Amino acid sequence: MNDQLHHVTLNFADGVTHSFSVPRGANILDAAIEAEMPVLYQCRSGSCSSCICNLADGDAATLPGASSTLLASEYEAGQRLLCVSQARSDCTFNLGYGSEVGASAAHEVHAFIDSVERIASNVVKLTLELADGEWMEFRPGQFMQIVVPGLGVLRSYSPSSTQVDLPKMEFLIRLLPGGAMSGFLEHEAETDQVLTLSGPYGAFFLREESRRAPHIFVAGGTGLAPILSMIDTLRQGGGRKPPMLLSFGCAVPEALFSLEDIELRQQWLPTLETRICVDREATEGLHLGSPVSALREGDVTSPDTVAYLCGPQPMIDAATARLIELGVKPENIFAEQFVASN
Ligand code: FES
Repeated sequence: MNDQLHHVTLNFADGVTHSFSVPRGANILDAAIEAEMPVLYQCRSGSCSSCICNLADGDAATLPGASSTLLASEYEAGQRLLCVSQARSDCTFNLGYGSEVGASAAHEVHAFIDSVERIASNVVKLTLELADGEWMEFRPGQFMQIVVPGLGVLRSYSPSSTQVDLPKMEFLIRLLPGGAMSGFLEHEAETDQVLTLSGPYGAFFLREESRRAPHIFVAGGTGLAPILSMIDTLRQGGGRKPPMLLSFGCAVPEALFSLEDIELRQQWLPTLETRICVDREATEGLHLGSPVSALREGDVTSPDTVAYLCGPQPMIDAATARLIELGVKPENIFAEQFVASN
């Protein structure tokens, strides 16, 4: 039976449909890439959620021995990670992004270091400028991989800047004791040094089709970076700005950063409300508790509200549960977990 082919249909959010064949028992993502489908992916091992989609019809299961970050409840609800799934019948999947998104394939670029600036007790702002003639189209929220010079290992970061700022790109990077990128940035990085980046990656990005709906952003630590890029993209777009709420938190006041940037945006965007949170030692004007605990009854004013969450997994889980409780539809909640790597 192994050579039996199943027909897989992909419905993209922009109404475009593509289909391809996959042998029974074979990896669906591999077959999709082979057939040049505009699908998003990155790790190809079930851990980044870039390839997430919803099984609308048919039978698709996790490949034997593969691990996946999906919760049992998400799997039950039809979510699948294409990179660890096999088709057991003809299948139809709904994708949460338009067909044009995956069409801008990841590629490699080079960029010069403009500056490395310590902006909090454990965060630096890395500003880069793309080399002449090189370009990196990306959506606010997506991430790039940067090669750590000398070590050759890759680290993933989302720009806090936007497409409009190119050829400049800005990243907010958490310093980790013993971290490869942290060591490089603290001790070796020099102005004009060349870094190699690849991207864009990821399915966490601002949904253009919802830009008029109220937005809620929840950010923990450097999870603020993609959120700033999203807020700036909404600001730079024409027309009336949607109501926006940003809840941003760090452990203690000296770990907070980018507060001036946030304040500026509040001045530019009267529809932006912000809550800055710390887990301990709150001083005046700061909310004591997590950015999730700062969400209140009455924050969700429309059934169309969209929410973007970026931070550690426990924060994302708590924010998702709270937002659903407050009335946000699960399908309007988009999240990116960041994992610290040493
Ligand atoms: S590509 Fe990372 S989970 Fe599938």
